[in-house]
Amino acid sequence: MRVVITGGSRGIGKALVEKFVKEGHMVCTCSRSEESLKTLWEELGRTDRLMFKGCDVGNRFSAKEFISFCKDRMQEFHVLINNAGILGLRQSIENYPEDVWEEVIRVNLNGVFYITKYAIPFMKDGGVIINLSSGAGKKPAPYWGAYAVSKFGIEGFSLLLAEELKHRDIRVYAFNPGATRTKMRADAYPYEDPNTLKPPEKVADFIIKLVNLRPPSGSIDFYE
Ligand SMILES: NC(=O)c1ccc[n+]([C@@H]2O[C@H](COP(=O)([O-])OP(=O)(O)OC[C@H]3O[C@@H](n4cnc5c(N)ncnc54)[C@H](OP(=O)(O)O)[C@@H]3O)[C@@H](O)[C@H]2O)c1
Repeated sequence: MRVVITGGSRGIGKALVEKFVKEGHMVCTCSRSEESLKTLWEELGRTDRLMFKGCDVGNRFSAKEFISFCKDRMQEFHVLINNAGILGLRQSIENYPEDVWEEVIRVNLNGVFYITKYAIPFMKDGGVIINLSSGAGKKPAPYWGAYAVSKFGIEGFSLLLAEELKHRDIRVYAFNPGATRTKMRADAYPYEDPNTLKPPEKVADFIIKLVNLRPPSGSIDFYE
């Protein structure tokens, strides 16, 4: 398969890149730091199955360049995983800083729109699009501010997109990985023991199963 994954430098995105590459698939990934992607590529033995580019998904020009980079190298995509995201601040709406609000929505919501919009023409019929959502995008989570609202947006975006791509048999999922041992989770819960959380590799395994099984489009939670 030819797979596009955003935010591949660490956490869930990195685990996904590793699994897909090790299973023999071709992967194009991005993150703001191209340096960390180069390190990952070196860890994977400088494989030619992994292609990477520095990109800010929330910048439409950068997002367009990344997808054009993926298209030049892979022609068509079986799978698109919109994984890149940022946390912002845990703060009440009343006290939420406007600049942080705009940045979180720019990356988590606009970024998914740009990457998906530019990728759709190169998606194979019968393909799969997975948008990383969160429990905070399903039930009101006070003080999760722009992050929660961006993930509510991802839920709606995914349902809408699923309807629009039905005629091409492309399945679209809003996928909630649940609490996972990553930098984002540690930033959100600094006093939590990370060893009590599942590793990102478990989430990557679940996503690979999702891609292979292709259940009907919709909102899906990780389960053991
Ligand atoms: N971990 C959890 O418990 C949990 C729970 C629910 C949902 N999620 C969701 O799962 C996804 C992955 O989370 P994670 O925990 O693995 O986060 P993470 O460890 O912070 O990794 C985020 C990845 O996204 C990249 N990224 C951030 N902003 C970007 C931008 N503007 N353009 C391109 N890449 C960008 C980061 O690289 P750079 O910093 O180099 O750009 C990094 O590779 C997110 O959408 C998150 O909301 C996670």
